[in-house]
This record gives sequence, structure tokens and C-alpha cells, in this order.
Amino acid sequence: MPDDSTTLVLGIETTCDETAAAVIERGSDGSGKILSNVVRSQIEEHAAYGGVVPEIAARAHVELLDGIIDTAMTEAGVGFGELSAVAAAAGPGLIGGVIVGLTTAKAIAMVHNTPLIAVNHLEAHALTPRLTCALAFPYCLFLASGGHTQIVAVLGVGNYVRLGTTVDDAIGEAFDKVAKMLGLPYPGGPEVERAAANGDPARFSLPRPMRGRDDANFSFSGLKTAVRHEAARLMPPEPQDICDLCASFQAAVLESTADRLKVGLRLFGVRFGPPRALVAAGGVAANQAIRGALQDVAARAQTTLIIPPPALCTDNGAMIAWAGAERLALGLTDKMDVAPRARWLLDAGATAPDGYAHTRAGF
Ligand code: KG4
Ligand code: ZN
Repeated sequence: MPDDSTTLVLGIETTCDETAAAVIERGSDGSGKILSNVVRSQIEEHAAYGGVVPEIAARAHVELLDGIIDTAMTEAGVGFGELSAVAAAAGPGLIGGVIVGLTTAKAIAMVHNTPLIAVNHLEAHALTPRLTCALAFPYCLFLASGGHTQIVAVLGVGNYVRLGTTVDDAIGEAFDKVAKMLGLPYPGGPEVERAAANGDPARFSLPRPMRGRDDANFSFSGLKTAVRHEAARLMPPEPQDICDLCASFQAAVLESTADRLKVGLRLFGVRFGPPRALVAAGGVAANQAIRGALQDVAARAQTTLIIPPPALCTDNGAMIAWAGAERLALGLTDKMDVAPRARWLLDAGATAPDGYAHTRAGF
């Protein structure tokens, strides 16, 4: 049983195509422990369409969520009456799914008279290294997923400054679209990485988007179009052509990303002093070649690279529960009328377009 200063939080994640719930325990010293973390990916439901279909995702969340919450509570050995709070990702994301998760959290909060916490999904990614390795503020986050590409200065709970973002496609979205145009299955990121391992990165000369610019923004749409042109010239491509094109694409992404992060870390240093770490999160952080490039960037900037374990890098309930626990510790709870949000920027002052999850792979 937790003592008075220990909190138990249920977290619910339904913003995209993972239905997830988890229970975490936060000690009075700020340490975290995952008691359960149940994730059901909907890849099978969406594979035939080559990307996430919002209506199918919302329906699947409705069907799956109650069972997944039950499993998470049972695995944690925690009853609803023992919870200190229930947290749900209230955005940004596909609105149908967000409504399912947030409404479920409200129902649990109401029935069990438990505080409700509406968590920003991006904040949950940002705070994950405090759960996994008790990282102190401030640090620099590179969020690289199918819906987001951001460099964020994480200065405190609720205190984030976005230093860079994509002006068009998200980085994972670019991987998925390249995979689709080359006939590789969805989700494309791991397929492109696998093909790239057997390809020649120098065969096709592709652009390195945004390289050399003073800001820390990203762009992937021009690179994607360049790949499309090369693919059209090869039709029908031989297996080796596909490997070479994937390798050339990945090399361009790596170079562009390394350059953008170099600038992002420089901007961080100028504004906030040295970061305690460079943290990478999101599905694309699973890419081994990108990990290598990030290691290099961090070393050059004389900081440490931290990448949470893959299951906590991709969307999950533990990160939502943890963000809820961090907010609860500061007394930041929400009212029952808090609204689900398709778009929700992490820092109030930001204006660039990456505050929401795109639907992926051409939808
Ligand atoms: O964070 P995530 O699981 O879900 C959200 O987008 O919220 O990220 C999924 C994205 C997809 O675009 C997927 O293709 C990409 O991450 N991804 C990868 C790799 N594994 C997943 N991209 C490149 N290389 C990989 N190994
Ligand atoms: Zn995410």
C-alpha cells in the first residue's frame, strides 16, 4: 500500500492508433515505478489502407479501451478506489480517439470521486525521461514520430519552449510515404530501415532539406518528392533499386536531422545554458542509423544522449500516467468540462503548424 505521499495514477492513451492504459506509482521523492503498461497497437486494422483511418481508429478504441484498462488495473493489483488520479491524453491527436479516452477518464473520475488530469500527449513524451531515469530539468527533447517532429526545450513541468518543428510532413510520415511509394508495407519506417541496410546511400543524390539554415526547423516534403521522381524513373524498380533508394533517402534524413539538431542545441545553449541531456522520443527514435547520428550530435555538443526504452518511446499509457502524476504533484488537476483537442501546442507562444497529429501515409 502506498503511504500518504505516494500517488497512484491511471493513464489512458488513445490519440492515434495505439489503445493503451497503464498504472504508475510516484514516490514523494519524485521517483517513478511502472506497475502495468498495456498497449494494443491497431496496425492490423489499418494495414490494408496503408495508413491510419481515423474512423476505424475511433471505433477500435471504443471496443478495446475498457478491456485494456481492466487489464492494466489487474496487472498493477490496484483498485479504482485506490487511485490518486486518472489521467488521459486530451490531445493533440485524432479527435474521435481523443474523445473516447477522455470521456472514459471522466467517467472513472466521476464514479470514483478521483481527480481528473487532461494531459497533453506531447508533454507526456517530453516528461518520460524523468520516469525512466529521473532526469533533472532543463533538457532538450527531439520528438520524432509519425505525427510530430519537434525540438523542445523542457524547462519544467508545463514549461516548454519549442525551438524547431517541421514546416510540412512529420519525419515518420516521410518514412511511411516513401515506403508506400516503393510498395513496402505499412508502417513504413522499419521497412525502409531494413531495406536501407542493404542499399547504397550514395547511388541517388537527394536534397538535404533545410541544411545550413539559422533556425532549427525541419522539412521533408521536398525530399519525399525527390524520392518520388527517382522512383518514377525506375518503374518497375528492382529489389536492389528499392534498397539503394531507401538508403539514399535515409542518409538524407540523417544528415538533415543532424544539422537541425546541431542548430537546436546551439539555440538551447544560448537561451537556457547547457542542457542536461539530449533526449530522443517517438517511433523514429527506434531507427538504429538515426540513433547513431544523434549520438554523434550529442557528443559534439558535449551533452549526453538519452533514448528511453522503445516501449516508452512509442505511444503508451505509462507516459500519460506519469505526466498526470507530475501535474498532480503540483496541484494541476482539471475540471469535468475540460475539452478534447485535435490541436494543442506544447508552448502557448508557438505558431508553427506542428501542434497536431497528422493522419499518416497519405490520408
Ligand atoms: O511514436 P509512434 O509510434 O506513433 C506516433 O506517430 O505517434 O511513431 C510511429 C512512426 C511511424 O511513422 C513509423 O514509420 C516510424 O515511427 N518508425 C520508424 C521506425 N520505426 C517506427 N521510422 C524509421 N525507422 C524506424 N526503425
Ligand atoms: Zn506520440
